[in-house]
Amino acid sequence: MAETAERENKKKFYICTPIYYPSSNLHIGHTYCTVMADAMARFKRLQGYDVRFLTGTDEHGMKIARKAEEAGVTPQQYVDKIVDGVQKLWKTMEISNDDFIRTTQERHVRRVQEIFKKMDQKGDIYKGKYEGWYCTPCESYWTEKQLVNGCCPDCGRPVEWQSEDAYFFRLSKYQDRVLDLLENHPDFLQPEARRNEMIEFVKQGLDDLCISRSSFDWGIPVPGDPNSVIYVWLDALTNYITALGYPDDMELFNRYWPCDVHLVGKEIVRFHSIIWPAMLMSLDLPLPKHVMGHGWLLIDGGKMSKSKGNVVDPVMLIDRYGVDALKYFILREYTFGQDGVFTNEILLKRINYDLANDLGNLVSRVIAMIEKYRDGKIPEAKTEDDVDRELKETALSVAPKVDEHMEKFGFNYALEDIWVLVRRANKYVDEKEPWALAKDSSKADELDTCLRNLAESLRILSVLLVPFMHTTSEKIRAQLGIPQELEWKDAFEFYQIEDAVVCPGEPLFPRMDIKKELSELEAIRQKSMEEAKKKADKEAKKVDLKPEITFEDFDKIDFRVGIVMKAEKHPNADKLLVFKVRIGDEERQIVSGVADYYKPEDLVGKKVIVVANLAPKQLRGEESKGMLLFADDGKKLTYATADADDGSTVR
Ligand code: MSP
Repeated sequence: MAETAERENKKKFYICTPIYYPSSNLHIGHTYCTVMADAMARFKRLQGYDVRFLTGTDEHGMKIARKAEEAGVTPQQYVDKIVDGVQKLWKTMEISNDDFIRTTQERHVRRVQEIFKKMDQKGDIYKGKYEGWYCTPCESYWTEKQLVNGCCPDCGRPVEWQSEDAYFFRLSKYQDRVLDLLENHPDFLQPEARRNEMIEFVKQGLDDLCISRSSFDWGIPVPGDPNSVIYVWLDALTNYITALGYPDDMELFNRYWPCDVHLVGKEIVRFHSIIWPAMLMSLDLPLPKHVMGHGWLLIDGGKMSKSKGNVVDPVMLIDRYGVDALKYFILREYTFGQDGVFTNEILLKRINYDLANDLGNLVSRVIAMIEKYRDGKIPEAKTEDDVDRELKETALSVAPKVDEHMEKFGFNYALEDIWVLVRRANKYVDEKEPWALAKDSSKADELDTCLRNLAESLRILSVLLVPFMHTTSEKIRAQLGIPQELEWKDAFEFYQIEDAVVCPGEPLFPRMDIKKELSELEAIRQKSMEEAKKKADKEAKKVDLKPEITFEDFDKIDFRVGIVMKAEKHPNADKLLVFKVRIGDEERQIVSGVADYYKPEDLVGKKVIVVANLAPKQLRGEESKGMLLFADDGKKLTYATADADDGSTVR
């Protein structure tokens, strides 16, 4: 009861990371977002908020189904293994999430279906046909205009034309309200540049959103239509409310919704700031307060890629340098909203200079001097001169600055200001020369003051560091011999330590030989890149056969020789050509996605092989009756041919 009452008096803070695709193990880019969310959650808890911090995994979709197939396991087995690794990673990194949602959990599946029904009842869902250029790795359809050099604008990989029966969400109905949200609530989406991009995007007009697929079955079934599954974005975005129990168990939901912050990478800002609010409008639910879009950690000038083998593994870095060193580096090095470059050298220098030299050295010096000169007892301050005053003022000036920076997710600026105190305290030691004061018994009071002021500075640092490196912060308090319980306001007061006896411990961050470490990390990197190359070469040669079929299956297909009579570009699609093909006494139209490989005139007069009894299909407004066969070696297409009269069967 007391706990409930206490919580009710507190202001709440609900923060969510995106839910990660468990298609392969997470890399340092993913930890970037989770570490920032964790720092913010810890900061708010320290400030007395009732915090809820959610993360999880987004486990459905074609990409995962394909990965599982490649690995020879079921999709569920596949994701279970990766998700286990994700959960272990967050545990190792001491991520303080309150819940972990998996989209394959029964609680989510059931609630997504309820949400689908609610949107349907509202009149916001209808059945139609979906066609477009589909990028499988990104699970996104793109329009012709959005493609870059004919490839996916997000990942640069080839796209394929797909068409299927599908359910649509009336996103267009909410266009004006979403535009109003973006234009008139400048705080809703940050940084500013992302907001402007989104406003432009909405102004170009919002198409209704396809929210189901029938081409694969690894997903949540559409209620009442077992042939369709709910497409990943409706399944994924709703995790933020299903994890709170919406719509059937409203206690947590009523306490924490609306979300205070969705922390997301820049490429998914669109889904969170346009589609997600529209879905919530359809459900008549309050909108999230803030969407914060962060940049990417880049490596070798681009995104980390498993196929290149330049993915940085956080587990390896933690094993070598520890959790707090990695967290500090991530939070100190990068500016929120901008892309940042990861290199081993930057990482090692940050750890050595900031942590081993500056902070670690300060702590061990101060504790050792209190031990040596005062038998470990932290003395009272007896005197005060300008240097003492300046240290005190610096120490007390940091927390208000951290407050300001944290408002804007300025973790690096907050740490920069905290290090002003670390450096000032080190300088204070050099200026005061406690070893000299100790030699002169008339300076005993000054020495007391000096040691006390340093101990208080360490205490304040330990409070300031809680959000960023809480284990280090605990270790500092343990070495000072002061209680672990604290509040944020303790960083605003100077003399607080009472009757403490220091307890020297291991150095917080041992100094490293950067050259040696660098060469070891580079060797690890080289090895992983070579392995990736070998794997890619092997993949390229691998003949991946489709499942076996019977003769009866084969015999259903009517292959014929045809002759191309005419060929022209498709009026509405750059990638398609429209052929007129004669097969014996019949001439028919066939549309093929080969415009990147053949000019229309290249194939006129050529004998081709046609799948003649394929059901006709509309491809961007042109009927296609049958299919031309091409050999595909992964780089180019070559038409299949036979030196026989058109109309001949092919067997
Ligand atoms: N499953 C979707 C999100 C659904 S949220 C309702 C997804 N998953 S993801 O695993 O591909 O990406 C998750 C987050 O990790 C994204 O915010 C993405 O920006 C972030 N990052 C992935 N690689 C990254 C870097 N190299 N650097 C920084 N963040 C990166 O998208």
